Amino acid sequence: MGKSAFSGIQPSGDMHIGNYLGAIRNWVVDYNTDESIYCIVDLHAITVPQDPELLRNRIRSLTKIYISCGLDINKVAIFVQSHIKEHAELGWIFQCLTPLGWASRMTQYKEKSADKKEQSSVGLLAYPMLMAADILLYQVDGVPVGDDQKQHVELTRDIAQKFNREYGEAFKVPEPWIRDSGARVMALDEPTKKMSKSGGPNNAIMLLDSPAVIKSKIMKATTDSGREIKFNPEQAGLYNLLTIYELFAPGNPTRPEIEEQFAGQGYGGLKKATVEVVVEGLRPIQEKYAELSKDEGYVEQILKDGADKIRPIAAKTLSEVKQRMGIG
Ligand code: TRP
Repeated sequence: MGKSAFSGIQPSGDMHIGNYLGAIRNWVVDYNTDESIYCIVDLHAITVPQDPELLRNRIRSLTKIYISCGLDINKVAIFVQSHIKEHAELGWIFQCLTPLGWASRMTQYKEKSADKKEQSSVGLLAYPMLMAADILLYQVDGVPVGDDQKQHVELTRDIAQKFNREYGEAFKVPEPWIRDSGARVMALDEPTKKMSKSGGPNNAIMLLDSPAVIKSKIMKATTDSGREIKFNPEQAGLYNLLTIYELFAPGNPTRPEIEEQFAGQGYGGLKKATVEVVVEGLRPIQEKYAELSKDEGYVEQILKDGADKIRPIAAKTLSEVKQRMGIG
């Protein structure tokens, strides 16, 4: 009866609370089921240069993060993209099917290649066709992602429809599943921009930051010189802190309740309380992560089991595609 989901994250940097609140937490709350599949997209990470040793470690680290954040390995499949060869193969087929115009209109491509068109890899342009392959191989109902990935999911739908029209129905056309709250956590030091893996030292709170580091980053967060505590989107720094507080606060307080709670306390009071809820919210994740780190063999086994569970689905889809196209 449940709905099947597919999603993924690149193992290209340390995870921060924006990744957690905007993606992983929604997977855990809404799509932690037998039919859901969560990928560590290492083939996407190499569209830009990566250090091999670091990449290998980050793939394992991200696996542990998925589990520490609450994905249930007795239900969902967690796997590494490159462990299932069908991704690269269907990705190539989609590159041949996708008009260059569709690919070059992708905002993420334009941003990432902006000042270095000639040097950026062909893979960066082909990135969304590989993402379409990830999703469409498994015939899922939807793709829970942050709003920055919506355009890629729309392209995935276009590719599926184009294939189905030209060669016959081989793919289910998936929905983008985008949740409003938490879809956007902004940088602490520059609250008009999204929190980022590659920003300065006070940009993001990492999921594995110690309480002391979390405190220092939040206390330094950029705010204006006001005093009154209201959810006003025009006060970007204050709004972001309030949003972070709201997302971590126990008991799901409403916005008016939060405003009332902090009335007359000034920004200092809000910052202190935010430190507290973030530290407490991350504590169980960090404890679970430390426990998993004691047994790397167990982590490898989870990845192997995940790939073994879903490989037959990918193989079946790809074989149908090849048959319909006349290849092989
Ligand atoms: N492009 C996604 C991101 O940067 C990662 C990704 C790759 C993905 N393949 C996917 C997300 C398939 C959802 C489904 O966040």
